[in-house]
Amino acid sequence: MTKLINKQKLLANKSSSLSGVTSVPGDKSISHRAIVLSMISSETTKIFNFLDSADTNKSLSAAIKLGIKCKKKNGFLEISGKGLYGLMPPKQELFFGNSGTSMRLFMGILSAQKFSSTLTGDSSLNSRPMERVAIQLRNMGACIEMEDGHAPVQIYPTEQIIGCKQRLKVPSAQVKSAILLAALYANSKTILNTDWITRDHTELMLEFFGCLISHNDKEIVMNYGEITGRDALTIPGDFSSAAFLILATLLAKNSQIIIKNVGLNPTRTGFLKILQMMGADITTSIDPNSSFEIQGSIKVKSSVLHGINVPDNLISLSIDELPLVCLAAACAHGTTTIRNASELRFKESDRIVAMTALLSELSIEVKELKDGLIINGGIITGGEIDSFGDHRIAMTALVASTCSKSDILVHNTQNIDTSFPNFVETVNQLGMDIINPDH
Ligand code: S3P
Repeated sequence: MTKLINKQKLLANKSSSLSGVTSVPGDKSISHRAIVLSMISSETTKIFNFLDSADTNKSLSAAIKLGIKCKKKNGFLEISGKGLYGLMPPKQELFFGNSGTSMRLFMGILSAQKFSSTLTGDSSLNSRPMERVAIQLRNMGACIEMEDGHAPVQIYPTEQIIGCKQRLKVPSAQVKSAILLAALYANSKTILNTDWITRDHTELMLEFFGCLISHNDKEIVMNYGEITGRDALTIPGDFSSAAFLILATLLAKNSQIIIKNVGLNPTRTGFLKILQMMGADITTSIDPNSSFEIQGSIKVKSSVLHGINVPDNLISLSIDELPLVCLAAACAHGTTTIRNASELRFKESDRIVAMTALLSELSIEVKELKDGLIINGGIITGGEIDSFGDHRIAMTALVASTCSKSDILVHNTQNIDTSFPNFVETVNQLGMDIINPDH
């Protein structure tokens, strides 16, 4: 029997090399969207490779509180959709824990209902910006209130969601998705103009579920009305989880791994382009049987990296991987600059502050900027750090042990369960050595 790991505190012993063929759990962003669209479709949908994690389970429990039947079966999740107008008023407030994606996607759906709802989260989520979603939904006729721009979010019944033309005000796929989900209920067509390319999973899944939508880098045009749905869909492995294995392999000596069945949607894989610019030996091959999302395999070999100025156009395409870009920069020769990344301040932690603290603890010279960081590559020592309550910071700190001079102790790591529950088991199978020091 596998020993259960207490995820409060984890010690990453300096590891030698990684090798093997592996896979990662289903994509978090796509899992949330699969729940939300299945519940308002007119089909019963079997969702294969659903990410069973703390965050996605918050979307699931919200769907259940809205009267949707959801069953976890052997190998898939089954959701019985009730159509656009079949949701029931929730008897209690909807609690979204740490999951920003859940809260923002549900704001889009709930702002179009004929009943009221209250959306809340844990202390981290209740301090993240929600007014950025509300302001754009109000342009469509939604009635949303909150104090100081933060949850709890109070949504009141709306007369009618209005189809209109507006511009996305922040580079956020979550805000964009809330608008598109509300647009399903609009009285006419919705046009959304955008200045940034952000992940397009909502657009792709809406299309897959039968919605009339056209989209390019600058404009999304969407028709209102029913979505038919699908009886089954398969979610690709999460590129953002694969990213930890990719960097661990690049940084460790004499290493090579292959990760199979990973999502390779180009709006998510900016991290690969950044690493390749830094000198990484990475190749991808696309699976010819990819469905509504491109997927394939990634082959990675140990590489010597050099510093770069990260191009602005790759920031939104690598937003969740920027902590790993910081770590890559810390191990690279020369200086790396990341700018135009102030969105990092609004994630599960302020990731500019968190990465400055983490790299400083590991003896790397780093300068915090308003909208990014400047990092001078050097020699990573060991150290003892806190995750700032952020799953991606916790996993980045543990990955640093692949190139550190000694061990790294990370506190407050239980949050890894929000996105990659079997992270420790997966990386240990490949050759890393992470333990719970209290066991
Ligand atoms: C997500 C979008 C991104 C990302 C988050 C997941 C999504 O957030 O950081 O982890 O599923 O749409 P923003 O939309 O706020 O940039």
